Amino acid sequence: MNRRTFLYSCSFAATTIMGGCEKQSDKSDSPTQKSGETQKSNDIYEPFTQELKIPKEIDFENVAKAKFNAQKSLAAIYKDKKTEVLTFHGDLPNPTIRIKNKDDFELDFTNSLEKPTIIHWHGLLVPQEMDGHPKDAIANQATMEYRYKINQRAGTFWYHTHPHGRTGEEIYSGLSGLYIVEDENEKKLNLPSGEFELPLIIQDRRFDKEKNLIYKQTAQDNNGVLGDVVMVNSTPFPYKNIKNTKYRLRILNGSSARTYKLSFEGIENFALIGTDGGLLEEPIIVKDVLIAVAERIDIVVDFKDKKIGDTVTLKTLGFKEASNFGANSAYPSFGAQMDIMKFKITELSSESAVLPAKLTTIARLKESDALKSRTITMEIIEGGVWTLNKKPYDMDRVDDRVKLGSTEIWVIKNAIHMAHPFHIHGVHFQILDRTSKMDFPTDKGWKDTVLVMPIETVRIIVTFTIPGLFVYHCHILEHEDHAMMANFLVE
Ligand code: C2O
Ligand code: CU
Ligand code: CU
Repeated sequence: MNRRTFLYSCSFAATTIMGGCEKQSDKSDSPTQKSGETQKSNDIYEPFTQELKIPKEIDFENVAKAKFNAQKSLAAIYKDKKTEVLTFHGDLPNPTIRIKNKDDFELDFTNSLEKPTIIHWHGLLVPQEMDGHPKDAIANQATMEYRYKINQRAGTFWYHTHPHGRTGEEIYSGLSGLYIVEDENEKKLNLPSGEFELPLIIQDRRFDKEKNLIYKQTAQDNNGVLGDVVMVNSTPFPYKNIKNTKYRLRILNGSSARTYKLSFEGIENFALIGTDGGLLEEPIIVKDVLIAVAERIDIVVDFKDKKIGDTVTLKTLGFKEASNFGANSAYPSFGAQMDIMKFKITELSSESAVLPAKLTTIARLKESDALKSRTITMEIIEGGVWTLNKKPYDMDRVDDRVKLGSTEIWVIKNAIHMAHPFHIHGVHFQILDRTSKMDFPTDKGWKDTVLVMPIETVRIIVTFTIPGLFVYHCHILEHEDHAMMANFLVE
């Protein structure tokens, strides 16, 4: 039995003994205990002592062409020690791409890693040969020229590498970044910008005593790698000095497996203004919001009631609804409550941007326009392999054929007692309904990734406008690497 099969069968074992895991995680889910435990067990670093790093921007208004080089680098994640990571530019966080709708994107990507890799522009609607399909991975020292025109609504997207079977380890090691598209419609809204617009890329990680990154350690990590150190923009448990006014936070969950239920201690509610595919029709006031791996939320938080010296903590309340699955018990479980970062009010502000009541219009796709309905089932098959429709991913097999220009309803059925974020390349979709009673405010917007709860069925509606071969997959990185992915051909 090779190592791979061995790991698979262990992760299968973990599922079959779920009853036991369920009890165990219930016990460790006590928020205070877990929260305290989390931040004490990490004795290599005092949380909230490093200031949030803000990624440099590559603004295509001033830059004609960008260059990325996937490489080994040393990054100052911690002040006192350089950590070996992978980067596109020599340091972390990787740069944020900022570009306007209808502008030309030009980037030359060189692979200086030993193994083949490829960049995927998550949420970007680009021709299939520019999408970063795993079959297009380029060899060591090869260069891929990305050239495409932006043709979509403003929104918060991201990029990451996508090699077959190694996406998890590469993103974990550093190969991801933010990608912002702007347009005229959004500009007119005068949303908080400049210093009042902050990108927050949330990623949980594991470090050893020497501050080296650790990836998989046990067979249970094939269920999803969870870490005890939450980094924001590659800064572990950071703080950020701010003014007492409105901030727009563009949040990406760039983790391997963890879903966060984000809320602010010290601020009762905030406005959700956008989802994966751009702005909502109107702001939705929420107390907390779930963000699964690969999802983005665009929120406006108002710190106006705070005084100088006050602190507001961004935390996760834990994703208890999906904690009944075995994960590596050495790290905070899916249900763990954790403090992520602190905002410190250090200056008063006279600014008071008004948040518009109406943001945009979203034309609803109609069920009656759907040509076809397709069911995709998330399943674990013998040997403990994570699959879609019982077929482990094969890069060269076409699993679904879709008519170009047509609208379809996809019925995503989760047959597993664990939530999975389901992602489709090359499209934005809308959510029709879901069988669980849980309320997802993000369901109201354009999406490219949707969290399907344990044993839940979610129906989505989608129009396919770009021809070619694309993938859809679970975005828990250890699941997509271990076969929970499929090819569809739009023709
Ligand atoms: Cu973030 Cu295949 O995608
Ligand atoms: Cu994608
Ligand atoms: Cu999954």
